[in-house]
Amino acid sequence: MSNPTAPDPHESAAVAERIERRWAILVCALVASTVAMVIYTGVHWSMMPPSRVETIRPETLHVQGEFIESNLGSAVEPDGTVTVRVIAQQYSFTPQCLLVPADTPITFRATSADVVHGFLVTDTNINSMVEPGYISTFKTTFSAPADHLMPCHEYCGTGHQGMWAHVKVIDRADFLQMAAHSRRLSCVK
Ligand code: CUA
Repeated sequence: MSNPTAPDPHESAAVAERIERRWAILVCALVASTVAMVIYTGVHWSMMPPSRVETIRPETLHVQGEFIESNLGSAVEPDGTVTVRVIAQQYSFTPQCLLVPADTPITFRATSADVVHGFLVTDTNINSMVEPGYISTFKTTFSAPADHLMPCHEYCGTGHQGMWAHVKVIDRADFLQMAAHSRRLSCVK
């Protein structure tokens, strides 16, 4: 005589198959919706993976090219915008204090001399990684004079927590007056 409380093996297999099929459908739907989202944002909003990658040799940063010491800091471009060049290294930024004008399009160009660092300006949406071998570029405009902290926010070694810089935003007219006397500006004392 069979035990009436024992599960029927055929019925257990049917339940398992039903659950597996539901999970398979759910996973396929998730993959399909993710792919659809990538296609939609790519076609409709022209959102692509980064393609304009600028590389640089970290071991010759201080010797030649854009990031030699005399070229670091803020420079006024012929079109009136300002470009700020910064190097991150264990455990500081050069320059340690960035001087920029308010109400002016600013382009930051940063690279690392050693390991991956973080570039974050408090009270703004500037937040980037700075990687050796690559130039990180980002643009912003500061609306008003202010002092911002700029901590490294990628763990880069034992001195990471002491890696800070400052961004000092000053009046545009004052900045241009200072720029008339100096090719590269910073607020390093
Ligand atoms: Cu540099 Cu953390």
